[in-house]
Amino acid sequence: MSQKRYAAITGAGHYVPPNVLTNADLETMVETTDEWIRTRTGIRERRIAAPDEFTSHMSTAAARQALANAKLAPEDVEAIFVATCTPDMIFPSTACLVQAALGAKRAYGYDLSSACSGFLMALDAGATAIESGRVQNALVIGAEKLSAVTDWTSRDTCVLFGDGAGAVVMQPSERPGMRSSYLGVDGHQADILFLPAGGCRLPASEKSVQEHQHFIQMAGRETFKVAVNTMVGAAQQALARAGLTEADIDWMVFHQANKRIIDAVAQRLGDGTTDRAIVNLDRYGNTSAASIPLAFSEAVADGRIQSGNKILMVAFGGGLSWGGAVVEWL
Ligand SMILES: CC(C)(COP(=O)(O)OP(=O)(O)OC[C@H]1O[C@@H](n2cnc3c(N)ncnc32)[C@H](O)[C@@H]1OP(=O)(O)O)[C@@H](O)C(=O)NCCC(=O)NCCS
Repeated sequence: MSQKRYAAITGAGHYVPPNVLTNADLETMVETTDEWIRTRTGIRERRIAAPDEFTSHMSTAAARQALANAKLAPEDVEAIFVATCTPDMIFPSTACLVQAALGAKRAYGYDLSSACSGFLMALDAGATAIESGRVQNALVIGAEKLSAVTDWTSRDTCVLFGDGAGAVVMQPSERPGMRSSYLGVDGHQADILFLPAGGCRLPASEKSVQEHQHFIQMAGRETFKVAVNTMVGAAQQALARAGLTEADIDWMVFHQANKRIIDAVAQRLGDGTTDRAIVNLDRYGNTSAASIPLAFSEAVADGRIQSGNKILMVAFGGGLSWGGAVVEWL
């Protein structure tokens, strides 16, 4: 009988653009205040990519760091999965552009679109590819240039988003690093968080531009409510599939949409505390598919996440879509 193959994250990396946009800067752009943004969201500042800096560039920078940390060369890479809702272009995929930039000559790859849940969908794809024996390693990237699809005249959304990228390398392991994965979607509420134009339903036109249809649109209050309940459910499913309880978890790396959502989910899951929740949205805002790998990579780099730690990842986003995963950092 052949032995079961396991997958593990063996390296992480991240990249954020140097340009910082503070809440004070936003006060000069729309009718808002630093106090409102901080108390309602927890965000203080976010990073904004340069006009000639794209999702593929940020992905490549994060990927290089993840490969170096996993002690792999670009020529070793066999698969590249990029989760993004802001690809450089509709096609070719961002994964192709990353493949070329890295010089990953042996790799195949594709983009995966699942808004803020994209990274956990891509992580599942990476783990499945490794566990099946089809590849020996995979680069899993979450990256966004949300500033390109943000309506900078709408205070409802422009205070929330930022740009950045995170990446992990996955490889076969003797013990399961990827302890569980639970994913879900429900298109019935597709219209509470979406980007209407640019696809075949509403191709770019003068009208679509005038009506600001190429920007993210969100019913914030509705999204908030569904997000908390759905994330708690996804976390419980991921824990159950891993045969673990919340008490076994060392760190919680949740999608960084709103500090109040992170706190509410962490409190409802466990002992009412939020100490184990890793938070970086105060510095980066909501970076959609990049937020979980960015927070994970930072926590590995600064030594908070240690060998043997079990990490609960939970995401929620447009689709609606959601996911939970339990990962052990071997
Ligand atoms: C967007 C969000 C921060 C808004 O916070 P909220 O507490 O729900 O605020 P509301 O939408 O109820 O708005 C409250 C008031 O603040 C106003 N407001 C909205 N944005 C504002 C801003 N940037 N500055 C000042 N006032 C603002 C609203 O107009 C509203 O005014 P009104 O009461 O006079 O109508 C919050 O709903 C949220 O985080 N939603 C979920 C985001 C998310 O999870 N996304 C999914 C994953 S990507």
